[in-house]
Amino acid sequence: GPAASGIQDIAFATGHYSFDLAHLAEKQGIDVNKYYIGIGQEKMSLPAEDEDIVTMGAAAAQRIIDRNGTDGIRTLLFATESGIDQSKSAGVYVHGLLDLPREVRTIETKMACYGGIGALQMALGIVARNPEEKVLVIAADVARYDLETSGEPTQGAAAVAFLVQADPDILAIEPAQGVYTLDVQDFWRPNYRNTALVDGKFSVGAYLDALVGAWHDYRAHGGVDFDDIDWFCYHQPFTKMAVKAHVRLTEEAGTPLEKADAAAALAPTFGYNQQLGNSYTASIFLGFLALLDSDQEIPGERVGFFSYGSGAVSEFFVGVIQPGYRDHLRVQEHLGILDAREPIGYDQYRALHPGTFVEAQENFTTERRTRSPFRFEGVEEGSRLY
Ligand code: CAA
Repeated sequence: GPAASGIQDIAFATGHYSFDLAHLAEKQGIDVNKYYIGIGQEKMSLPAEDEDIVTMGAAAAQRIIDRNGTDGIRTLLFATESGIDQSKSAGVYVHGLLDLPREVRTIETKMACYGGIGALQMALGIVARNPEEKVLVIAADVARYDLETSGEPTQGAAAVAFLVQADPDILAIEPAQGVYTLDVQDFWRPNYRNTALVDGKFSVGAYLDALVGAWHDYRAHGGVDFDDIDWFCYHQPFTKMAVKAHVRLTEEAGTPLEKADAAAALAPTFGYNQQLGNSYTASIFLGFLALLDSDQEIPGERVGFFSYGSGAVSEFFVGVIQPGYRDHLRVQEHLGILDAREPIGYDQYRALHPGTFVEAQENFTTERRTRSPFRFEGVEEGSRLY
């Protein structure tokens, strides 16, 4: 059969600022452990005024191109649910900023937080058709909820870029796929809003139901036994959600784990998302990156991935960590990105929040803040300038 394909290289970028949830809890007069322990989140990243999904996505993708070059890349997929234009793909701006060859197809994928895994599956299809080709995938989002809502502590921002190719050095993805779609209204963002609407408790149940559905479909389509999977990497809107998911999946598999044991099993996947907050499409890949960058030595081990996109589309599949994968990681680079963020207090956090509704503004310029090589300069007659 065809050579295995999967992830050759993977990197992340995030926003300029970090905001500790202790400031939010203090303002609200509640115990910060509701956030640190209850939902499992410490900080959120926030983009500066001159950053967005394009600047974060380009910064992550630049590092992939610096290491791998552009040879073989004929497709760029940009997954996001915080799109900056209703028509033009954010990927085309990145294509321009990175000066990629013109012989590349570029599109944006959207299905809430599932868009990144959807793009990965499309990339695998392209590589299966022609193993000489590579696909650059970017997943980037800014997660925003209204102030003083249950979703507020779960905001965040990040981008992940990765290269999909045959014979990969980091992760080879197995063919079995479990998919599950159900039209539910648990989380959505109308075009006139900056912030998402969410039915919080209902969304947690919808996530768990989708997990069970995708798992059974995975097993029905040739997926391996639960016991053959060494690590689990879930979409993490907040890291505690993954714990709830793992408890549910172990029940479904007939080997139920207590909350504390499920949390311990997943702990190596939490490091980045606890510090960055929800990054929607990027979140599952940041869980995977945290596992890769952790002190676990896991060549040859199987990782089960569960992606959930509200609305809702979900998928379960498995990949195998490749021998020698550690030589292809970017551990110090990633820790440096986390540390480089500028911490801010409550007032500055409030000032950065864009409010509920999208305001029409056909001309404006931004102030220089970002340390990223790419910067959003503003809008001129409706065109975004970078
Ligand atoms: N110390 C320790 N734990 C504490 C605590 C304290 N002082 N105070 C509260 N807690 C615990 C609670 O017991 C609770 O634990 P359990 O979940 O284990 O019961 C936990 O903290 C959270 O407390 P609440 O349930 O009261 O929290 P909430 O209702 O204010 O918020 C939420 C929870 C509704 C999920 C909210 O975070 C939210 O709206 N989030 C956005 C929506 C979301 O992320 N949904 C996830 C599924 S949808 C998805 O995955 C797509 C996506 O990316 C959005």
